[in-house]
Amino acid sequence: MMLWSLTAGSLLLALFSLCWGAALVDFQVAQPPPVPKDAKQCTVQIFERVFAFSFGDAEVVDYTPPTDCGDPGSWAAVTLNFTVTSNGTQFDRLGILTFQNVEIWRTSTPEPTRGDGIIWTFIKDVTRFTPLFAEPGTFIMQLDNLIQPGLDGNYSTVMHATFFESSEENPPAGQANTIIPLSTLANDTGNDASVPPAFSLNVTLPQNTVELYAELFASGNGQEEFWYFNAANEFLDDLPNGVALGQGPFREVRLLVDGQVAGVAFPYATIFTGGIIPTAWRPITSYGALDLPTYFLDLTPFIPALVDGNPHNFTIDVISAEQDHTILQNWFVSGLLQVVTDPSGQPTTGNITSYSAGLFPITTTSGTVSNNGDVVINVTATRSIHVEADIVSGSGTTTHVVWSQDLQYTNIQSYLDNTDIQNVAQLSSGQVSSVHNGAPAVVDTFSYPLNINLTVLTPDGSNFTAIFDHSYDRVLTPAPFILGSTIHNHQVATGFFHTASTGNTGNGTNNNTFTYEDTAGNTFNRQVNAALNVITFDQQSGNLAPAPEPAALVAPSMNFDSSGQVRFPGNRVIGV
Ligand SMILES: *[C@@H]1O[C@H](CO)[C@@H](O)[C@H](O)[C@H]1NC(C)=O
Ligand SMILES: *[C@@H]1O[C@H](CO)[C@@H](O)[C@H](O)[C@H]1NC(C)=O
Ligand SMILES: *[C@@H]1O[C@H](CO)[C@@H](O)[C@H](O)[C@H]1NC(C)=O
Ligand SMILES: *[C@@H]1O[C@H](CO)[C@@H](O)[C@H](O)[C@H]1NC(C)=O
Ligand SMILES: *[C@@H]1O[C@H](CO)[C@@H](O)[C@H](O)[C@H]1NC(C)=O
Ligand SMILES: *[C@@H]1O[C@H](CO)[C@@H](O)[C@H](O)[C@H]1NC(C)=O
Ligand SMILES: *[C@@H]1O[C@H](CO)[C@@H](O)[C@H](O)[C@H]1NC(C)=O
Ligand SMILES: *[C@@H]1O[C@H](CO)[C@@H](O)[C@H](O)[C@H]1NC(C)=O
Ligand SMILES: *[C@@H]1O[C@H](CO)[C@@H](O)[C@H](O)[C@H]1NC(C)=O
Ligand SMILES: *[C@@H]1O[C@H](CO)[C@@H](O)[C@H](O)[C@H]1NC(C)=O
Ligand SMILES: *[C@@H]1O[C@H](CO)[C@@H](O)[C@H](O)[C@H]1NC(C)=O
Ligand SMILES: *[C@@H]1O[C@H](CO)[C@@H](O)[C@H](O)[C@H]1NC(C)=O
Repeated sequence: MMLWSLTAGSLLLALFSLCWGAALVDFQVAQPPPVPKDAKQCTVQIFERVFAFSFGDAEVVDYTPPTDCGDPGSWAAVTLNFTVTSNGTQFDRLGILTFQNVEIWRTSTPEPTRGDGIIWTFIKDVTRFTPLFAEPGTFIMQLDNLIQPGLDGNYSTVMHATFFESSEENPPAGQANTIIPLSTLANDTGNDASVPPAFSLNVTLPQNTVELYAELFASGNGQEEFWYFNAANEFLDDLPNGVALGQGPFREVRLLVDGQVAGVAFPYATIFTGGIIPTAWRPITSYGALDLPTYFLDLTPFIPALVDGNPHNFTIDVISAEQDHTILQNWFVSGLLQVVTDPSGQPTTGNITSYSAGLFPITTTSGTVSNNGDVVINVTATRSIHVEADIVSGSGTTTHVVWSQDLQYTNIQSYLDNTDIQNVAQLSSGQVSSVHNGAPAVVDTFSYPLNINLTVLTPDGSNFTAIFDHSYDRVLTPAPFILGSTIHNHQVATGFFHTASTGNTGNGTNNNTFTYEDTAGNTFNRQVNAALNVITFDQQSGNLAPAPEPAALVAPSMNFDSSGQVRFPGNRVIGV
């Protein structure tokens, strides 16, 4: 086990040895991908692209699988390295990476600084998409950036893929037989759909499908970026105009198959780097901002109804706790199906023996409006899904499948002191599991507490401060053939922000405690704190921790420029 740390003493030393003129190193706390250390590696460049004015102009490139690290698809692991620099003034932007018409990575951009600019690298484990990498095809990177007066930051990007050769010690990664997109199938832009309206497409499954797992991508954008701060409609009139958007704070992402709910997700709230206090997310982004979490469902119980050789209607939508369940614009959604087929080639048969899933969750909305104008709103939701089926493979094996989801949600919004204080305390949690003949297949036990206290300091809203305290606690196995992991991250960030026509200023602190372990015995722990753009404490341990590199500990920058571009809940004008 390796352990290294940075203390106040070595920080001082490091500060003295800073070279002015180097870019600020931004990052999201995450585990290094669990890849074999001793395997032969083959790295290929996927694309290199400067996203300047790139709205509607995605990067579209051909891909050919490498053959010098074993037969395509026989790899032990596959990772992507996305490295980006930026210099100037710019908003955070969403990045949607589509490969073979399947979304495989949703990311976003840290906001740049002026002058020396920023650089970040995220290494993503894409081993579970091995069937896609085994074939020639197309990558599409959609990163819609705008250059206009006041916004001049380009994102200069390069993406590489690294393939790890398999061997006796490092066997080929577990994988599905095929992956089917639940996407728009566009060939010139990211393959996510904007909902509402609900997104539907026809899917025809192989008739010998014996296991079926879905992965869903979903993030709120536009009026839905701060969905957890959206106020329940019945209290909107009690709040000053513009303080909050409507449709309430609850969101459920649903997957319907032929009009029936097959599974749902209570999404994690990703805060992008322009979120409320841009300087709180520099150089450490909000957890998830560079690699948005996704959601996993076991659709195996529905196979008997789907293997007739005909197209079936798969729908992804996002609903609220309002009476009509509608939301504002917009959520970007997509998904994919990991399909396991029976080697006999013979059609699968079977029956759903039990189905219990409402079209909508059970929700409550209540609240109080005080004489002094204080408004406190309480929204809750619970969701229970239970499906059982017997699946008979063409080879003659019968599998009893039990799929269940038990999810809980609470959200308390407090608007106090004439709404100068806006607090949200949200908790999404749940137990998701599927069992195949007694053996766990999909496991997802999660808890996503989100607490934000926002205080507006000046009547014109130009000065404000916030504290963010949120966690990502998740025990997850996406499918039996995909590595399971347990992640705990706790992040507390604070900051002050001032908007002005002469340039925004601000400051921030950001403390993270992260632990990772997986079912193959890999571990990684990191505690890292930042204040005013500088890493003040960094301790990493576990068998995935990199070799000590004390020189790289402190972001080599004295760049206190904090001209972040703020995104704010509600729709009132902030500052000037
Ligand atoms: C990721 O890519 C960047 C840019 O090509 C490179 O400098 C860096 O060393 C790579 N990181 C890893 C871990 O491969
Ligand atoms: C940042 O951009 C400016 C032009 O806006 C350029 O003069 C400067 O060299 C750039 N800095 C770096 C580090 O690329
Ligand atoms: C952004 O890219 C455009 C086009 O490539 C270029 O003209 C401009 O100078 C770049 N901006 C900065 C700040 O480097
Ligand atoms: C891309 O999609 C468009 C519209 O669906 C279609 O007309 C075009 O032929 C497609 N191009 C390729 C190369 O598949
Ligand atoms: C799916 O296919 C059916 C015909 O089999 C067609 O009526 C329907 O419009 C298609 N739906 C979608 C979403 O493409
Ligand atoms: C697919 O299912 C959705 C959800 O039930 C429904 O709104 C839509 O009309 C269906 N599409 C087709 C073509 O049947
Ligand atoms: C499914 O149910 C039907 C009707 O009850 C029955 O005839 C059939 O044997 C069942 N199939 C399996 C695989 O259980
Ligand atoms: C919120 O509402 C739920 C359901 O009515 C209730 O159980 C809970 O106690 C309420 N929470 C608060 C803080 O009022
Ligand atoms: C707002 O913040 C700025 C920058 O810190 C400060 O100069 C200014 O005095 C503040 N305004 C008020 C009204 O407090
Ligand atoms: C937000 O304010 C509430 C009420 O004052 C307090 O209970 C809570 O701990 C605060 N949350 C954070 C993250 O500071
Ligand atoms: C951030 O700036 C505000 C306003 O000037 C100040 O009160 C606060 O102490 C600063 N925070 C840090 C961590 O320096
Ligand atoms: C972050 O950690 C530092 C110690 O490195 C501590 O002084 C500070 O109070 C912490 N900040 C928050 C908001 O917990």
